[in-house]
Amino acid sequence: MRSITIATILALSATACTTMEAVPLADTANPARMVSPILKSPESEDTQTWAEPERARVTHVALDLDLDFDAKRVGGTAMLDVLAEPGADTIVLDTSGLEITRVTDGSGRELPWEIESMEETGAKGEPLRITLNGARTIRIDYRAPADASALQWLSPEQTEGGVHPFLFSQGQAILNRTWIPTQDSPGIRQTWEARITAPKPLDVVMSGVRQGEPEDLGNGRRAFRFVMDKPVPPYLIAIAAGDIDFAPIGPRTGVWAEPATLPRARAEVGDTEEMVEAAEKLYGEYRWGRYDMIVLPPAFPYGGMENPVMTFLTPTFIAGDRSNNGLIAHELAHSWSGNLVTNAVWGDSWLNEGVTTYFENRIMEAVYGKKRAEQEAALMYANILETLDEVGRDAPGTALSTDGEYELGSAIAYEKGAFFLMTVESIVGRERFDAWLRQWFDNHAFQPATSEMFYEDMMANLVRDEAEAERLTLREWIFEPGLPENVAKPDPAAFAAVDAAVAAYSANGAIPTGYADWTSAERQRFLDNIPKERSAAQLAALNDALGLSSTGNNEELFLWLELALANRYEPAVPQAEEFLARVGRAKFVRPLFATLWEEGEWGRPIAQRIYADTRPSYHSVTQAGVDRVLASD
Ligand code: BES
Ligand code: ZN
Repeated sequence: MRSITIATILALSATACTTMEAVPLADTANPARMVSPILKSPESEDTQTWAEPERARVTHVALDLDLDFDAKRVGGTAMLDVLAEPGADTIVLDTSGLEITRVTDGSGRELPWEIESMEETGAKGEPLRITLNGARTIRIDYRAPADASALQWLSPEQTEGGVHPFLFSQGQAILNRTWIPTQDSPGIRQTWEARITAPKPLDVVMSGVRQGEPEDLGNGRRAFRFVMDKPVPPYLIAIAAGDIDFAPIGPRTGVWAEPATLPRARAEVGDTEEMVEAAEKLYGEYRWGRYDMIVLPPAFPYGGMENPVMTFLTPTFIAGDRSNNGLIAHELAHSWSGNLVTNAVWGDSWLNEGVTTYFENRIMEAVYGKKRAEQEAALMYANILETLDEVGRDAPGTALSTDGEYELGSAIAYEKGAFFLMTVESIVGRERFDAWLRQWFDNHAFQPATSEMFYEDMMANLVRDEAEAERLTLREWIFEPGLPENVAKPDPAAFAAVDAAVAAYSANGAIPTGYADWTSAERQRFLDNIPKERSAAQLAALNDALGLSSTGNNEELFLWLELALANRYEPAVPQAEEFLARVGRAKFVRPLFATLWEEGEWGRPIAQRIYADTRPSYHSVTQAGVDRVLASD
């Protein structure tokens, strides 16, 4: 079910240097601006950027862009502040498909530039090399292409309101180079500001703090201003525009959504302020000021994206009972793991996602109690085992630190990463572990990090002695495939009642009577574990008794549709079709197409027929995922 990119392990040496220039310092030209250091160790080298940051790097980005909903294009200027080593007279930026018309210095003098055209660079795009001639500010006039893969332009029909168009961006991992010419690497942090114009009555939000009221330009458009004064990796620059309203939650929390969605959205995220408080109690001050969210139209390709001060969310997490709000805890936790301390290279994405998944579980425990956290952890553990069974315990892609591409949905970065930290916690004790993780965030705040640094920091600041080091097996956890022996297994009692119900159903078809009162995690456990092969009569009986096809919880609906399609259950096809036409979330869409695809002569024509209709409505990320499925044998 879950796909993994198989990759070979980086040959890392234990003594690799992890030198940093310094802690964040003030920009000498702009004393108020913080400049983050870059890493120079071999394992921190990002192969997915064209930038040569040790020679010249971008420290600040100022965008002035117009949103053109008719042409579906973003265009304007980017002013970049540059920090160059003595003697470095060129700077290299990442671009992909950008139409550059002019490059000048801060005072309007033309600067020589070229886009090296390369063969088959794929998502990495093309390097833009600019001759600096001493300039420390450069201005680029450009337009993003209409098919910029970071951007999705929705027609009014793809919104809840149905009247106005919508735009959102998705930068992670290397998509922002399709609309912003900068150094698009997670290890090269930049502060930024933006002025964005959009047609009335659309509102614009970004992953920076909105400055004052929008300015009416008198031509049917308004200008919005944003500032992010903390250095962030450029994949975290994000924008959304549409007919949206805001509802406050707590003093520093709130939610944006289309007017028709806002009340349901507001109700679902009602515990957010409490979650922020719980997170701060665990691992230190929330450093970004406000924590707002936007619930996007269902085309958004992910569950959530941790854009600073403005988490982006799918509306498909709304269940009416907050049962899927582990998603909020997750994106919030990224405000520490990911946004404050960032993987320097995408092969170390477990540093973002695994640490976040651990932190998410701790927030859930603090806000909802041990039982819910234990159940969610048990679901994660089952996912790890399923993945390892599928790809094999010695598959190199099952190491936390890989040099492979990063794919969402891999149980390795997320769930194996989380179980690594749970295991360490169980060995050293919660108190010591929490103190260690808090200092990790504090000491690396606004800086990139690598697996090697994480390991060395644990050795220096957590591990007490040789005997403890031996029990922890840190290097095996981080650098070796499979699952170490010492893994802290989830409490088998977490799902005792459900597991008994699964056994009864599997043995004699007894359908559980308590299902309606179960938690969503319990229902997912049941649907995950019942026999995969079911007859049409058995599926009909199950659906009649449990109301599976009429659940308001999309995680459960997804599991039902997957089970039904895998058994060629015709009555489920129209609902699957409706779901795939409405929802663009890759985590649901790709596996449903994969399930159909696996069903050969029955499923393939159905998949092709549905995809012919729905493909244009998906984000490029989802399209790419499904394209791969439908191209496989
Ligand atoms: N940062 C990720 C989303 C992402 C990952 C975007 C990789 C692009 C490339 C986000 O925090 C995330 O993990 N989202 C999950 C939520 C979940 C695990 C609770 C999702 O979208 O399903
Ligand atoms: Zn995440």
